[in-house]
Amino acid sequence: MENGSTLRKRWGFRSNPELNMATDNTVRSVLFMLLSKLNNSDTRPVIPLGHGDPSAFPCFRTTQIAEDAIVHSIRSATFNGYVPPVGILPARRAVAEYLSQDLPYALSPDDVFLTLGCTQAIQTVVTVLSIPKANILLPKPGFPYYEAIAKSCHLEVRHFDLLPHKDWEVDLDSVNALADENTVAMVIINPGNPCGNVFTHQHLQKVAETAKNLGILVISDEVYDHIAFGKNPFVPMAVFASTVPVITLGSISKRWIVPGWRLGWLVINDRNGILKEHGIIDCITAYLNISSDAPTFIQGAVPDILSKTKVDFFSKIVNIIKEAANICYEGIQDVPGIICPSKPEGSMFVMVKLDLSVFEDIEDDVDFCVKLAKEESVIILPGNCVGLNNWLRVTFAIEHSALEEGINRLKAFCARHAKKP
Ligand SMILES: *Cc1c(COP(=O)(O)O)cnc(C)c1O
Ligand SMILES: *[C@@H]1O[C@H](CO)[C@@H](O)[C@H](O)[C@H]1NC(C)=O
Repeated sequence: MENGSTLRKRWGFRSNPELNMATDNTVRSVLFMLLSKLNNSDTRPVIPLGHGDPSAFPCFRTTQIAEDAIVHSIRSATFNGYVPPVGILPARRAVAEYLSQDLPYALSPDDVFLTLGCTQAIQTVVTVLSIPKANILLPKPGFPYYEAIAKSCHLEVRHFDLLPHKDWEVDLDSVNALADENTVAMVIINPGNPCGNVFTHQHLQKVAETAKNLGILVISDEVYDHIAFGKNPFVPMAVFASTVPVITLGSISKRWIVPGWRLGWLVINDRNGILKEHGIIDCITAYLNISSDAPTFIQGAVPDILSKTKVDFFSKIVNIIKEAANICYEGIQDVPGIICPSKPEGSMFVMVKLDLSVFEDIEDDVDFCVKLAKEESVIILPGNCVGLNNWLRVTFAIEHSALEEGINRLKAFCARHAKKP
């Protein structure tokens, strides 16, 4: 029966527009859009140069030691229950020992919080720092998940530049210019996603001193720890934890090539106890108390995964990635319209710049990637998604033959769209 009450709203809910806005330019959503552009009548395999998950390729299979650790953990029937929200002690201790190998001091298990991948570590630290009026300094280009979480927490984001012609070092002048009394932290990603750079010890020291002078925390995303294959060795930011408080984020996702296992960490590196004094540690615990935990059987496997994996496995993987980085860099050198200012030396990515003046009918980076997906079944992430318009982020961590095929298709595409003389 129709009556006057149909004028009243019938349902109390509606979509949350802020959430849609915060998440519409994440890597996932852009890659999903590109996949929908593929031409189904192209019988060639799709070449995925878009996201950094090489786990599907046989040459990137994880070590059997890690697989056995999971099986043992399950068969032991001791890791089936709920656990403390900060993680189980043996796993926290294992992460503390793993990270302490690269530090001038030993971390305690209490410094380590286990998370559902590095993703939840990011969510935790950003949420904890989101007090009214605060702002956070993020790198440009960067990893868009930080922006998405900051937006959803109403934390203001300010971007400092990474400098392409200085091996993507942090523009410390821009950090100084952006920070004010409401700045809480700056984020660095080392080895770099999306830039494939590895910061020097000297540069990290300057970052530490800059942050100390500004009175801000350094959040160091080291999810690609040790995936370094150029002139600079990987140096953890925590080496400078007596200069400035550092929160290190990491996971087993990238170094062990098991992003689906969802095991990460958030680690307090703070030699002077500044974070504790300011209640940050309690706040992290409080947030984890209301969050989901990393699966217990994965936590049960962590001590074996971290302590028993052989150096051979790591060096095999890094060598494959290094060779792939070379194939990619050399291949791109002779593609007209694509410029690579800095050879990748770490992580799984390189940023390349489009020279749009070379092309006849390419509007911008998104147009480039959409047409490339349609015409060549190659998926590449538009730079606009990581903060740089008219650049591309290319993942080279795929099997070498597929990478070579991808570069050849890229060349053919660029030649076809070049301005005719
Ligand atoms: C992959 C990635 C993450 C997320 O790691 P997970 O362990 O899969 O959650 C975080 N930060 C950066 C820079 C990444 O590339
Ligand atoms: C978190 O939960 C633990 C119990 O698991 C409790 O002891 C602790 O007080 C809680 N901490 C906060 C800050 O809520």
